[in-house]
Amino acid sequence: MLDTISTLRSQIETDAAAVSNAAEAEAFRLKHLVRKGTIAALFDRLREVPKDAKRETGQALNDLRTSAEVTFEAMQSRFSNAPAATPRQDVTLPGRTLYHGHEHPLRQAQGRIEEIFTRMGFSIATGPMVEDDYHNFEALNFAPDHPARDMQDTFFVKMEGRDDILLRTHTSPVQIRLMKSQKPPIRAIMPGRVFRNEAVSARSLAEFHQVEGLYVDRGVTLAQLKGTLFEFARAYYGSGVKMRFRNSYFPFTEPSAEMDITCFLCNGTGCRICKQTGWLEILGCGMVHPRVLRNCGIDPEEYSGYAFGMGIERSQLLRIGLDDIRLFYENDIRMLEQF
Ligand code: DAH
Repeated sequence: MLDTISTLRSQIETDAAAVSNAAEAEAFRLKHLVRKGTIAALFDRLREVPKDAKRETGQALNDLRTSAEVTFEAMQSRFSNAPAATPRQDVTLPGRTLYHGHEHPLRQAQGRIEEIFTRMGFSIATGPMVEDDYHNFEALNFAPDHPARDMQDTFFVKMEGRDDILLRTHTSPVQIRLMKSQKPPIRAIMPGRVFRNEAVSARSLAEFHQVEGLYVDRGVTLAQLKGTLFEFARAYYGSGVKMRFRNSYFPFTEPSAEMDITCFLCNGTGCRICKQTGWLEILGCGMVHPRVLRNCGIDPEEYSGYAFGMGIERSQLLRIGLDDIRLFYENDIRMLEQF
């Protein structure tokens, strides 16, 4: 019996060596490893083996079966892991476009404004978005019953024990903070976010950005204000732009003005965008009101100052010729990637 086992082992080794594909491996299994196979047949004959040799023979058969199984598993993994047919590749397909991120058009606008003014000697200052009535209105010479304080325009913040906390409606309160904390000469621009209780439309948002400007020193004049703003407009809107000052009113400046530039769409001949006037308003400005200087501990007999404020969204709309302010916040890549 042991000889028979040894002969079968050689047979199995020879068969295994000849297997070269999955079908032959399967034939190997059917010949040797199934219930009706060669090894099982020898197990059946174990009954005929004399008692004293049973143990040794059984052991030899077990070894043979184990090694045949291991051989078969090795074949199986060798032949079933053949790589699947390579997928077809179309080398003429266009490549995938990579989108490079870049500064949002509003950040670009703020950056340009900051660059132009810092070149003229202005520094950059900031202040809190959550303000109090004093800095946002009172110190800026707003009368107690001024309509801007109305619930319609201002977002008030609920705070226990305080009814004067609000989201700043403009960047002008930063002027107050600067004049209270520094001595003249003060020359700074103050960019930042502002909030107004307004319906969102093509022309207005409830949350937008402004840049405030302030220059306080001995002998500051309206002519200097004009020169500075004209220089800014030429740098920002292009050297061909025409400008004009129109008188206006703000509680914190006297005299006050608004500055217009020629309409980008019609070049001053009159159209829908400029309401047939040929002009577009870009900012408010004026000479700092003596009462505002005094509120900040600056003597208006000794010092004078000018101030101005403009909307960043609006300035960028005019510069690139868009007619809907909401486009800046829709995050539409087709719009953003153009700037
Ligand atoms: N604070 C004004 C506004 O929000 C803009 C402004 C006008 C600012 C005149 C100024 C100024 O500093 O002098 O409409």
